[in-house]
Amino acid sequence: MGTRGSVFVEAEPSNPREDVMLEFKALTKRFNDKVAVEDVSLTIPQGQMVGIIGRSGAGKSTLLRMINRLADPSGGELLHKGVDVAKLKGAELRAWRSNCAMVFQQFNLVGRLNVITNVMTGRLHEHGFLSAMLQMFSAQERAFAIRALDRLGMAHTALQQTDTLSGGQMQRVAIARALVQEPEILLADEPIASLDPLNAKLVMDALRAINTEDGLTVICNLHTLDTARAYCDRIIGMQAGRVVFDGAAHELTDAAAREIYGAEAGEAFQEGLTSTSLGGHTRPAPTMPQPARAAVG
Ligand SMILES: Nc1ncnc2c1ncn2[C@@H]1O[C@H](COP(=O)(O)OP(=O)(O)OP(=O)(O)O)[C@@H](O)[C@H]1O
Ligand SMILES: [Mg+2]
Repeated sequence: MGTRGSVFVEAEPSNPREDVMLEFKALTKRFNDKVAVEDVSLTIPQGQMVGIIGRSGAGKSTLLRMINRLADPSGGELLHKGVDVAKLKGAELRAWRSNCAMVFQQFNLVGRLNVITNVMTGRLHEHGFLSAMLQMFSAQERAFAIRALDRLGMAHTALQQTDTLSGGQMQRVAIARALVQEPEILLADEPIASLDPLNAKLVMDALRAINTEDGLTVICNLHTLDTARAYCDRIIGMQAGRVVFDGAAHELTDAAAREIYGAEAGEAFQEGLTSTSLGGHTRPAPTMPQPARAAVG
């Protein structure tokens, strides 16, 4: 595996040969002379909730963006159930992107559209862009979007203009939009970095519930150690583009965290007590009322 340092802990393999969702093989990304991700080899099984941590510039976003091909690898392979994602083109690439929905720190919603239209753009892969913009969605799709919003406690805002929502509400709408894509994988790049503690908790609870109830594989870049420890089955620590820790939350000792964060370790520990503290929350039970994803069409 592409690891170095003394804190590497092998994640407990849960049937390593079965249910492999993603396999990274010596995956590397260079931007000119800069190596953003270096020689990363990992296996992520179906249904795992993975937290990626590391200081700014460690390569967390680049790693996530290579999964849904917002960035193309410079070397190595990324396999989804044995298929090399880096080689997908055209319709296959579009299908792959809808299969790994992404949630961003800044939500990426269209503020002047209402909430339900934003959610239904998650069905764009089923529509041409024009029909989506003309809001030519079926009654079934509208019902599906409402159910997704309801799971996030946001159905009452369906007809509200999106830019009137709070940040935490917007992120829950963005998660609802991701859900209507009916993906296998949910990628979240610092989904709570802009949120207050209550909204951060609501969003992390929602991601965890989607993971446990729907069996989605969730891969989440996180800034705060406590959040990663509280919510994730497995934590991957990155430093200067490399994986320097890969293990269960309880294996992430303070020494391991210092290896990952270096001089910023104190700050990373403190963060757990300040802006995005989730108040000592541990492994939440699923809280969302709806059963697994309902089918559309
Ligand atoms: N499009 C790009 N062009 C050039 N360099 C880039 C590009 N994207 C990322 N990098 C560089 O690659 C490295 C990793 O960046 P990345 O955004 O993946 O880090 P990160 O761990 O997500 O950091 P942060 O916590 O600040 O979001 C950084 O040195 C960054 O400057
Ligand atoms: Mg980033």
